[in-house]
Amino acid sequence: MTLTVAIDGPAAAGKGTISKAVAAHFGFAHLDTGLLYRAVGRRTLDGTPALDAVLALVAADLEAGDLRSPEVARAASQVAAIPEVRAALVDFQRAFARRQGGAVLDGRDIGTVICPEAEAKLFVTASAEVRAERRLAELLAAGVETDLPEVLADVRERDARDEGRADAPMRPADDAHVLDTSTLDIDAAVARAVAIVEAARTAQD
Ligand code: DC
Repeated sequence: MTLTVAIDGPAAAGKGTISKAVAAHFGFAHLDTGLLYRAVGRRTLDGTPALDAVLALVAADLEAGDLRSPEVARAASQVAAIPEVRAALVDFQRAFARRQGGAVLDGRDIGTVICPEAEAKLFVTASAEVRAERRLAELLAAGVETDLPEVLADVRERDARDEGRADAPMRPADDAHVLDTSTLDIDAAVARAVAIVEAARTAQD
């Protein structure tokens, strides 16, 4: 059985948590595609050109401890605007998507570019203010010194770059279910996502 679940959306909308929960619920494999861009971005911080960085990428790079830092997130969003970097990551993501047993991929362009044929597509979003507050809580818990205006500016800057790039901009696929989590708690958001995937699975039988 193959079944692809594409979960796209901006930073801190809840797509990572929802993706992990959906994958666990159905026993599907999960790929956080943002980690690929973060690992490439991280390598560029020491001066490595982005294209060299993407071609040298190995699985262990996805386990580096600092991939979640704001500095790496910014670098990831910058390298993600380079078409050659995106092109180098396509085959790996598509192979993952079609693996036996089902797969959940989360990112920005999964439903539009990587897997336009995905059986279930979600676009998870929330207001920039709500997302900044969530991200602030995560960063403070991780010991990063920052404040709400700084995090909100970062969220807006990254949204603008991810939505505005020419190649594979972040946007909902025409056939995606849009899930706004601004006023939903995580259990309610996961329940809605599971129901959408369950409907797609039933339609496949
Ligand atoms: O999901 P994330 O915050 O870890 O992603 C980091 C950056 O990587 C994000 O700003 C844009 C980029 N990205 C992308 O362009 N396409 C994807 N499929 C996933 C992430």
